[in-house]
Amino acid sequence: MKYKSVFDYDLKGKTVFVRLDLNSSVVEGRVVISSRLREHSKTIYALSEEGAKVVVLSHQGRAGEDGFISLKRHADHIRKFIDKQVQFVAWEKDYVSAIKEMKDGEVVVLDNTRFQKEEEEKKTPEEHANDSFIKKLGPLGDLFVQDALSVCHRGHASVVGFKKYMPCVVGPTLQRELDALGNLENTENGERVVVLGGAKLKDSVKLLKGILDSGMCNKACIGGLFGELLLKANGTDFGNKEKFFEEQGFSELLGDAKEIIEKNKEKIILPIDLAAEQGGKRVEIPIKDLPSDLSPMDIGKDTTEEFKTIIRTAKVVVFNGPMGVYEKKSFAIGTKKVLEAIAFHRCYSIIGGGDTERALTSFGLVPADFSHVSLAGKALLQFLSGKPLPGLEVLEKA
Ligand code: 3PG
Repeated sequence: MKYKSVFDYDLKGKTVFVRLDLNSSVVEGRVVISSRLREHSKTIYALSEEGAKVVVLSHQGRAGEDGFISLKRHADHIRKFIDKQVQFVAWEKDYVSAIKEMKDGEVVVLDNTRFQKEEEEKKTPEEHANDSFIKKLGPLGDLFVQDALSVCHRGHASVVGFKKYMPCVVGPTLQRELDALGNLENTENGERVVVLGGAKLKDSVKLLKGILDSGMCNKACIGGLFGELLLKANGTDFGNKEKFFEEQGFSELLGDAKEIIEKNKEKIILPIDLAAEQGGKRVEIPIKDLPSDLSPMDIGKDTTEEFKTIIRTAKVVVFNGPMGVYEKKSFAIGTKKVLEAIAFHRCYSIIGGGDTERALTSFGLVPADFSHVSLAGKALLQFLSGKPLPGLEVLEKA
């Protein structure tokens, strides 16, 4: 699908709302500079150089969790990156006047969209258009630009609510993501492998099912906590770790997990061994030797070799989420070796998820080692599963 680009429009003097994903890790109150911040800053710079009045919309964190903070520090980073006039405006301030008073080329960063209670309410785009903050902003804008694939799976107010008021078009960062996904769809026939890991399990089972059903990938190598969930659904007893699984909400996911394994026995490759810590050292545990008193933190060496062999036969590899606790050196081996295998094998590769990008940098790999490094995680998987993304559905078709 082709969408209209922001650069199809004359932007001089236009008020342009741009939805970015500035959502970043926050460590001791400091916003960690990420490729999201860098890439989206380039978009802001480009729109400002074209003479647009650029109004930035983004969320940060989730209500009730760490990192649910204002965008003031993000605005400071952007100002430094682009060396232009960037004004941060909190929702309590008169943001309507602040936007009306903008001059060509100026930038206003509005506060965390999730501070608006209507942002995440489950509504249609038409209903979100009537949310109080969207109703105030809508009449002020000439163009809405979606620049973040990573938010397009959310039907949130600041993602879908502006269609009633102005044309909604694609920004350059999103365009690069869509081009990469288009290339993936057009890759010659052959093995298409998805390697999934990480610890964010909500939706993972359904997305894996969608990706296999859609035919976008015909093999799935599963590691990380997700791998442990599927192993457990397949009957593995984890002993001491069961309590931790309970806290992670495993029980409500096990039914779907069992079903997908039974239906895709040939396609889903589960770990045959895991690695844990004993006396300060890494030890390998074959799955057949579980339960154990030890708590697994990585895929094992044999599993890593098996995943590497599968990757070597693939035409396409999509990687999303680390294979273990890669922040600890001894448990980074699975993630590191799998990423190296993808980087050094000449296949079409897409690497997704914020954690993944941090992981590859820590291993001395660079984005240029892969066909595309996506800034999106779950949204990328949802795209591959063929399920529509609400944020793309509101965009103008070219
Ligand atoms: C992300 O980090 O994946 C995006 O910013 C979306 O965040 P969310 O999962 O809290 O909606």
